[in-house]
Amino acid sequence: MTFLKQTELVNLVAQLSLEEKIGQLQQLTGNFYTEEEAEITGPMTEVGLTEKSVYEAGSVLGLSGAKATMEAQSKYLSKNRLQIPLLFMADIVHGYRTIFPIPLGLASSWNPELVKKTAQVAAVESAVSGLHVTFSPMVDLVRDPRWGRVMESTGEDPYLNQLYAKAFVEGYQGDLANDPLTIAACVKHFAAYGAPEGGREYNTVNMSDRQLRESYLPAYQAALEAGCKLVMTAFNTVDGIPATANRYLNRDILRKEFGFKGVLISDWAATKEVVAHGVAANEKEAAALSLEAGVDIEMMAFCYQHFLKELVAEGKIATDLIDEAVLRILELKNDLGLFENPYRGANEEQEAALVFSKEHQEIALQAARESIVLLENKQNVLPLQKQEKVAFVGPFVEYHDLLGNWSWKGNPSETETIKEVASKRKESIEFVATSGIWELTDEELTAAHKAAEKTDKIILFLGETADMSGEASSRTNIQLPTAQLTLLRELKVHGKPIVVVTFNGRPLDLTEVAELSDGLVEAWFPGTKGAQAVTEILFGETAPTGRLTMSFPRNVGQIPVYYNHFNTGRPIDANDADNKYVSKYLDVSNEPLYPFGYGLSYDKVSYQDLVIQEETIGLDGKISASVTLQNNSNQPVTETVQWYVRDIVGEVVRPMKELKGFETCVVPAGESKLVTWEISVEELAYIHVNLEKKADAGEFVVMVGSNSSEVLAKTITVKN
Ligand code: GLC
Repeated sequence: MTFLKQTELVNLVAQLSLEEKIGQLQQLTGNFYTEEEAEITGPMTEVGLTEKSVYEAGSVLGLSGAKATMEAQSKYLSKNRLQIPLLFMADIVHGYRTIFPIPLGLASSWNPELVKKTAQVAAVESAVSGLHVTFSPMVDLVRDPRWGRVMESTGEDPYLNQLYAKAFVEGYQGDLANDPLTIAACVKHFAAYGAPEGGREYNTVNMSDRQLRESYLPAYQAALEAGCKLVMTAFNTVDGIPATANRYLNRDILRKEFGFKGVLISDWAATKEVVAHGVAANEKEAAALSLEAGVDIEMMAFCYQHFLKELVAEGKIATDLIDEAVLRILELKNDLGLFENPYRGANEEQEAALVFSKEHQEIALQAARESIVLLENKQNVLPLQKQEKVAFVGPFVEYHDLLGNWSWKGNPSETETIKEVASKRKESIEFVATSGIWELTDEELTAAHKAAEKTDKIILFLGETADMSGEASSRTNIQLPTAQLTLLRELKVHGKPIVVVTFNGRPLDLTEVAELSDGLVEAWFPGTKGAQAVTEILFGETAPTGRLTMSFPRNVGQIPVYYNHFNTGRPIDANDADNKYVSKYLDVSNEPLYPFGYGLSYDKVSYQDLVIQEETIGLDGKISASVTLQNNSNQPVTETVQWYVRDIVGEVVRPMKELKGFETCVVPAGESKLVTWEISVEELAYIHVNLEKKADAGEFVVMVGSNSSEVLAKTITVKN
């Protein structure tokens, strides 16, 4: 690819009229470029656009397809005075048309390399379909499963979220300057959108600057350090100021501290929403505040379009603010090689050959396998044995939409159902596909009883629909729908083992389900090849290896419950369990139903002999540790060894434990394996009162285990 020089870009900005500059800051939906002129006059006039302003807009979202994008680009260039190419952006969150597990599922693989591979595949399918930018990765840290967008996050841990942010960005962007089958990434939502009060969508976010920097900002920073080209603002306020109009957040932190030089795009109409927040009296003020806060592209609102010219004329906005925004947008177009080739990777033949290819589906299958988490396996009810007669029952037996939210071009009709996959097997399976997520008819219940009577084990496929999580999908009740719980309760009468497989986009309250079932499999929305992955795991062809990256609460009242919590001044003392005056509930344990890092395999390893090489080290030293895994089973076991550290005394309160490393390894049947780990003390740094990030001397507890609750521990001392 060849690129314009920086001086040429600057000269190009200088050649633009003020209207054309303001046009570059505008993002419109695809319909403005595809529907017949006659039809688009409607939306156009509604928002006060003219055809001229449509063909001066800098970018478009939600339009893809090699043919459609090339036609739109060609028509656009024929009407754009200086032939500045249009940028094509879209939400490719967990795959383009080959759909991978939702990010909360992908994260459960504890395999950043795999996640990077899924992003690479998504980039190839997107690029040949004419896209240049994806609004991904979403790296918002989330501790509240009431919030629907938890499904697009990678969970509650800052360390893991940083690894995944990096993996997604590197996967999407690859060698962006030389490989047209890559796309630019846009990390979102800046910042702390995952912490709305009450888990209620778009709600207020309240937290200190220090906690923001300690827990929420590191993942965005990791994305930027990986070279992420764009950042998207969040809908929420941060410390009382809407993120989109927040100069401290966007200019002081993002641009000055983090050194971000790329494009800042608003979320959908988030500029205009500054008025609803009550920080702008009108859209004219919202335009000024957003531009001053550094927002370069306004997504599907028209404050810039309608008021920037007036603001400039009134001397309220300096044109250099507009020029710098335009330059960043032209730099992005240039980085994508669009001035040389406005069509970049768009190619109908490659689109036909690569999109939804068998090879891509194989990667989707592997991702689905590794995302599934086994939560219960009482009396080794799983894996199912070939000679067993089983009943597959429930609303997800013949349900196609295993793709989950934000799977735009994913096609449920192309997604195999559990029944389609399982019926190809030679085992005897009775299928009873109930029809409703929310209802259960008498006939269906009767059929379920009949199937249960004829079989040895009952496998229930339950869950949420894809639209029960994702954007604008917060829930105050995070249990399975009552009809599904009724089905489970009713089938208990047969006294036969019951396994529940659940498809869902958030940690659910599975307390009753866990009590009533013998096996419990968390499948998330496992994507295009999810049905095959689930079936393989049920029949033991694949062993479950997934581990949770978000705690499952016992009930919604326990939220927020997360592993890296503080001790409080009145922690529960195990030796004084009846003490009422400690930080606990009267009715429920403080512990989650399933903790961060938790997941079962079909065989287990034991952890022995945690050894710390040097129990006293300096601030410039390293912690070196090892642990022995013992596999007494007759099967190899894949184990994700998790290393945690607790800083016992800090200048501020410190979490009871923080994930600081992990390794997934295979322990051969009947053998043991020595696992070593090393971390420098500087990686134990935290944000001090003065907002400086550094490590302290003092005592630390080093822990290792199969999840955040079951650990071996040893104390070490760091000396000045
Ligand atoms: C939505 C989402 C954002 C998405 C954008 C474009 O409202 O908040 O994540 O990228 O609009 O679809």
